[in-house]
Amino acid sequence: MNDQIDQPRRRIVLGAAALSTGLSTALLPLAALAAEPVKVGLILPMSGPFASTGRQIEAAVRLYLAQRGATVAGRPVELIIKDDGGVSPDVTKRLAQELVARDKVQVLAGFGLTPLAFAAAPVATQARVPMIVMAAATSVIPQRSPYIVRTGFTLAQVTAPMAQWAAKNRIRTVVTLVSDYGPGIDAEKVFVKGFTEGGGKVVDTVRAPLRNPDYAPFLAKVRDLKPDALFVFVPSGEGAAALKQFTERGLAAAGVRLICTGDVLDDDLMASIGPAAAGVVSSHHYSAAHPSADNKAFVDAFQKANKGMRPNFHAVGGYDGMHLLYQALTKTGGDSTGDKLLAAMKGMAWTSVRGPVGIDAATRDIVQTVYIRKAQLVAGGYYNVEFDQVDKVRDPGV
Ligand code: PHB
Repeated sequence: MNDQIDQPRRRIVLGAAALSTGLSTALLPLAALAAEPVKVGLILPMSGPFASTGRQIEAAVRLYLAQRGATVAGRPVELIIKDDGGVSPDVTKRLAQELVARDKVQVLAGFGLTPLAFAAAPVATQARVPMIVMAAATSVIPQRSPYIVRTGFTLAQVTAPMAQWAAKNRIRTVVTLVSDYGPGIDAEKVFVKGFTEGGGKVVDTVRAPLRNPDYAPFLAKVRDLKPDALFVFVPSGEGAAALKQFTERGLAAAGVRLICTGDVLDDDLMASIGPAAAGVVSSHHYSAAHPSADNKAFVDAFQKANKGMRPNFHAVGGYDGMHLLYQALTKTGGDSTGDKLLAAMKGMAWTSVRGPVGIDAATRDIVQTVYIRKAQLVAGGYYNVEFDQVDKVRDPGV
C-alpha cells in the first residue's frame, strides 16, 4: 500500500526539485492531487447469453492489475464494473453516460458486442474520454468516435487469411454461415471476396439470427448443397451449439468440412465442445496454446486466479487494453486528459501474449498476427494448435 502513496510524491519531488530525495511538506497538497485515481468504467456483459465475455475480460483486467500493481505513473487505477446484460444498446448507453457524468471516469472500456460499442461511441466523443474496445469486432467501430481504440480484433482481419488458406488447400466450393449482424456480415463479405479471388466458388451465403438461433434449418440446406466446406462465424458463446448441430445434422459424415473463425472454437468453450472440434481448421489472433513463454505464464496465472478457467481471445483483448492504458499513462506522466491519452495510444506497439501487436495511428485499430490453427487433443484437452501465420495484419475494411 505504501507504494501507492509514495510514488506520486516521489514523482513530483523529482520533477520539481531536480533529483532531490527529500519530501517537502509544501508539496504535499500537490502530491495528494496527483494521487487522484484514474477511474476506468468497464462495461461488460456479466449476465445474459454473452456472460462468458464479461467473465473473461473482468478476470484478465483484474489479473493485469494484480501483476502490474494498481498504480501507474503515480495514479491509483480504480475499476468501476457495470453489467450491461449484453443485449440492449440503450442500457449500455445509459451506463456509459452515468459513468462519465456521475462517476467521472476518465476511461471507458469493455464492450462485448458491436451494437453496444456503437451505442456508447457518442458518449465517448461528447465526454472526450478514451473508449477502449476490448471485444466488439465489426470493422467500422473506430470510425464511430475519434476516442475509440481497439485492442481485440476485427472479423475482417481474421477472416481474410482463412479465405486465402481455404482457396490454397484444395477447397473449391464453400457455403458461408454467419450470425446476421455487423461482425457476421463483415466475415461473410471478406470470405466471399478472398475465396473468390483465390479461385474458389461460394455456392451460397446464409445468415442465422443473433438472438435464439436455431442452426438446424440452415445446416439442412448446407447438407443438400454439399459444398467442400462450410465457413462459420458465430460470436463467442455460440460455438458449442453450432458445432453440436453440425455434428448432429451429419454434415461431416456427408463429406462437408467445417472451417471457421476462432470465435466458434473459443478456448472458454473447448472443454464443452470436446471431440466435435477435432481436426477443425480455424483462423484467429489468439489461442491459449500459443507457444510463447509470455503466453504460458499468462495462461498459468489466469488459470490459477480463476479456478482453472482457460483464457480466451476476449481475455487477451482485456489484458492488452489495460496494458495500452498503463503504457499511455506512463507516457503522459500520469496525465489522464482524454486527448493526451489518445495521442499516446496512437502508434503504440508491444509484445502481447498473442504475439507482436500495435495500434495503427491513423485508424486506432489493432495490427497483429493472424494464425491458422487446427483443433487437436493436447495433454488431455482440445486446443487450437497454430500451424501457419500471417504477420502484421491490418483490418482490411469491408
Ligand atoms: C461483436 O459483436 O462484435 C462480436 C462479439 C463476439 C465475437 C465477435 C464479435 O466473438
